[in-house]
Amino acid sequence: MNCNDLGIYIHIPFCTKRCLYCDYTSFTNLELIEKYFDTLKKEIILKSRESKSFKIKTIYLGGGTPSIIKTDLIEDIFFTLLNNYDINSLEEFTIEVNPESVREDKLSFYKSIGINRISIGFQSTTNEILKKVGRIHRFEEEIRAFSLLKKYFDNINVDFILGLPGENTNTVAKNLEFIQNFQPSHISYYLFDASHDTPLKFLLNDGKMYLPDEDFLAGQLDLIDNFLKNINYKHYEISSWALLSKESMHNKLYWHNLNYQGFGISAGGHVNNFRYVNTSSINNYIKYINEGVFPYEYQNSNDSFHELIETLFMGLRLLDGINYVSLVNRFGKTLTDKVIDNLKKNVENYICIKDNHIKLSKKGLDYSRYVFEKLLDITY
Ligand SMILES: C[S@@+](CC[C@H](N)C(=O)[O-])C[C@H]1O[C@@H](n2cnc3c(N)ncnc32)[C@H](O)[C@@H]1O
Ligand code: SF4
Repeated sequence: MNCNDLGIYIHIPFCTKRCLYCDYTSFTNLELIEKYFDTLKKEIILKSRESKSFKIKTIYLGGGTPSIIKTDLIEDIFFTLLNNYDINSLEEFTIEVNPESVREDKLSFYKSIGINRISIGFQSTTNEILKKVGRIHRFEEEIRAFSLLKKYFDNINVDFILGLPGENTNTVAKNLEFIQNFQPSHISYYLFDASHDTPLKFLLNDGKMYLPDEDFLAGQLDLIDNFLKNINYKHYEISSWALLSKESMHNKLYWHNLNYQGFGISAGGHVNNFRYVNTSSINNYIKYINEGVFPYEYQNSNDSFHELIETLFMGLRLLDGINYVSLVNRFGKTLTDKVIDNLKKNVENYICIKDNHIKLSKKGLDYSRYVFEKLLDITY
């Protein structure tokens, strides 16, 4: 990747039904879809002026549930990108799909416009868990959808969440059995984050559902990691494992804090030190874009210090960590050394420097949220 490379993220905030644990921006009012896509096209064109010098390396259609969208709307977005950006060097083009909406005609269309990576959300292979957390698909649909995906794509990510209500050693073992039998090229195994105000959080607070305890989860995380390593997956980011050469290029743009534009509500971007997050209000989004105004809810031109903190924040998620020399080239030796020294003082045993790379130690990986909190406390 170099500084002329750009990733593109497009947020598609529509779902058939909201899952109880999910905090991502999405709506079940599907009548808004056409108007939203109209606005997306305008935003893509509006931003193209400032992206002229970039080569698009990755495109990611995320959600929400992009697979419920009619193919002609996706095609429109693709042609808007094609006509306004340099996508001749495109290497990775991902779409997120949900098991129940995977259909053969859609897959063949995705392939025809150059999509070469699929990310499918399972969360669990146990029907009791899926039902408890409000998923509308069942294990049988996971098998059907995955088998169909395999006919068209060899680069497939599957999302799992560890620690949903009802999780136990058998339910984790069933997920691992699926992975061993079907061998997706990439696994995202997230630890359930119960901190957001979701319907599930209220059920937990009212004692109507229970979560597995933390020691159990720590043990299961080790077990998952060992199991996946034994069947040739490389653990390369806190929540990500990949078969050889199947690491996510798009997500690596985020983790190396490189350039990407985000389109759609709640989408974020980072281009030449400028960081922004779009509004999560669909009405404001449509209004601003139609007035020719960028719909930012947050925007900041980072100085070198903040850019460096963000680079560490993202890069420490990678198991290989961050190359010290690349930090010095990007931020200068004085600033880099000062910030790393401060970080070492704050979280001594949680990070290590080895072979010119700064990374989380085993303890740091186990308590990464603590390290990231401390990183944000550093001043200059
Ligand atoms: C925004 S979702 C979109 C994916 C797709 N719509 C689906 O449901 O499969 C991306 C992924 O975030 C993860 N996720 C969502 N809420 C989460 C939570 N509270 N804790 C951990 N992971 C979560 C899930 O694994 C999900 O597949
Ligand atoms: S997990 Fe996926 S399907 Fe469920 S509400 Fe979130 S975005 Fe929609």
